[in-house]
Amino acid sequence: MTIQRIGILTSGGDCAGLNPAIRAVVNRAALGYGWQVVGIRNGTQGLLDRPVDCVELTPGDTDTELLRRGGTILGSTNKGDPFAYPMPDGRTIDRSHEMIEGYRQLTLDALIVAGGDGSLRILRRLAGQGKIPLVAIPKTIDNDLGLTEVSLGHATALSTATNALDHLQPTAASHSRVMILEVMGRDAGHIALSAGIAGGADVILIPEIPYNLASVAAKIEDLKARGRNFALVIVAEAVKREPGEPAAPAGAIHGSIGHYIAARIGALTGAETRVTVLGHIQRGGTPNDRDRIMASAFGVHAVDLIAEGRFDRMVAWRDRGVADVPILEAIQHYQAVDPHSTLARTARGLSICLGE
Ligand code: F6P
Repeated sequence: MTIQRIGILTSGGDCAGLNPAIRAVVNRAALGYGWQVVGIRNGTQGLLDRPVDCVELTPGDTDTELLRRGGTILGSTNKGDPFAYPMPDGRTIDRSHEMIEGYRQLTLDALIVAGGDGSLRILRRLAGQGKIPLVAIPKTIDNDLGLTEVSLGHATALSTATNALDHLQPTAASHSRVMILEVMGRDAGHIALSAGIAGGADVILIPEIPYNLASVAAKIEDLKARGRNFALVIVAEAVKREPGEPAAPAGAIHGSIGHYIAARIGALTGAETRVTVLGHIQRGGTPNDRDRIMASAFGVHAVDLIAEGRFDRMVAWRDRGVADVPILEAIQHYQAVDPHSTLARTARGLSICLGE
């Protein structure tokens, strides 16, 4: 199979590292192999538009400036599953054949997608149906994709969350408060656990480890008894309210658990509390050095996989180097925090309260 022209799209929630990955793909494909590269806009949505919403990408368009830019120049979407596409009247319909037709119109020889588990599941199904040679780049600030030690966006999100604790600590100490920082992570607690260790949190609550507010309160009382006038608590957005408590308001994703934990800590300890919901600050911003390096290695390797005719594979970071794994296996191995991992044990070893 001779490759002349490839496509790239970014799908799902944006994150830092996508633009450096696009740059690496374009440089490797155009300068290394002499191929044309087409960027498809707004994830799979661009394939539904007629004409297909796309842009030819050349190394001139993807200079080093892209290394420094957050988000994705191609746009993205985390809606619009082609197999259950939401229509204005509330129905969902299968539009996969239209997307495949859009892909055909671009006369591409292969497609690179940067996405998280949801996007990769959809794109893999689409690729199977349309016989699209597909290579994937893992991206998700949540870092919950399997078979890769890290996905694009996680490192920058982690720096942002750590930085938030750095900012909260002096004000917590100045006002003798308990500061609660709620971070993203979808169903996983990777950001909370790592940032909590890096940012010196006293309490880390993650969905993978059941918590008990009595032990959180005891930790705060213990700090007080030792002369500490403040405490830092970091909580992952997916942490649930205690059993027996009314559930979070329907549709609430962010900002709910942080306020709940603050209210309960206040009631149990009498401490003055404040809540910061970090939200999408974690997704944007300048990609940090780790994300730029990872994106560069992933982008180059993704193009090399196409050159070698090795499809249905996801690039990955394993054992200090770039590798590749079957996309199917990556999405089948959801990577939650292991409660017995080095980081969880480190947190306990530092006497950080995990709510147990
Ligand atoms: O998966 C990435 C993520 O940022 C999650 O951490 C978060 O729960 C979700 O996306 C937010 O999605 P949206 O941008 O649609 O609010």
